[in-house]
Amino acid sequence: MSLVRVEGVTKQYQLGNQTVVALHDITLSFDEGVFLAIAGPSGSGKTTLLNIIGCIDTPTTGKIFIDDADVTGRSADALADLRARTTGFIFQSFNLFPVLTAAENVEYPLLNLPEISREERQQRVKKFLGVVGLERFADHKPNQLSGGQRQRVAIARALAIKPRIVLADEPTANLDRKTGESILSLMKDINRHYGTTFIFSTHDRRVMAMADRLVRIEDGQVSSLGLKVNEKWKTVKPNNRDNGFQGEKHESKVGPDDMGNHAGRNDGGGHSGGR
Ligand SMILES: Nc1ncnc2c1ncn2[C@@H]1O[C@H](COP(=O)(O)OP(=O)(O)OP(=O)(O)O)[C@@H](O)[C@H]1O
Ligand SMILES: [Mg+2]
Repeated sequence: MSLVRVEGVTKQYQLGNQTVVALHDITLSFDEGVFLAIAGPSGSGKTTLLNIIGCIDTPTTGKIFIDDADVTGRSADALADLRARTTGFIFQSFNLFPVLTAAENVEYPLLNLPEISREERQQRVKKFLGVVGLERFADHKPNQLSGGQRQRVAIARALAIKPRIVLADEPTANLDRKTGESILSLMKDINRHYGTTFIFSTHDRRVMAMADRLVRIEDGQVSSLGLKVNEKWKTVKPNNRDNGFQGEKHESKVGPDDMGNHAGRNDGGGHSGGR
């Protein structure tokens, strides 16, 4: 079963009497646990594709499946609920609330989940600020933090809901090279340790090199798929279920103090099961 399947997706924007084709007939699927980069030149459709996978935006034609459930025709409320429980987002410009502390920023998405008690919220904030190495900065506001620290807060915020998928749109673009690499290493460690799926867009070759799957897009179309085997990239044919791109099942690497996301698998119906 694929975690995400994008089937024949096209996205068009209307600008006056001009139609902009941002994505054209994209078909792609992958399993849980991949660390996947979407690469392509500016304007190629990376952000549009991430937004559609994250159900922030809807395709003009085509379908999106999460856990094999078609989410394409769902209402805005149902999609908001699905996002709130399934997907963490990380942005190029961090998108933290400037008036909130690091801890309050991490807590924020949990306020959408009424089943999570205040005590559980506090525990998660502490835990995930710890995961990103920022316990001591819990009371700092974003303007009292460096760029790399801000992006770490954003990672903790994305993880706080115990997401199945983390989507990151050029997460290192506003960081210097060394800080960007440390942010990517942190994301990779979380992917390995918890099995959380990461999908991120990038222009940066060094960032692409850290992925285990690579989708290249040009002019809104998939131009190639890369699969890392024994630390070497292999190009595989798109649209072939047996090309290995989807990813093999990760054996569970999750300990007793896990994030609980695998137990809390979304049923695809907008409600979380077993959380
Ligand atoms: N809201 C919109 N209205 C009209 N056109 C849009 C809109 N959003 C994106 N586009 C167009 O769709 C195409 C893809 O844009 P997108 O932002 O997905 O590219 P990108 O690969 O993320 O680029 P970058 O690397 O610069 O972030 C571009 O031609 C862009 O101008
Ligand atoms: Mg973009």
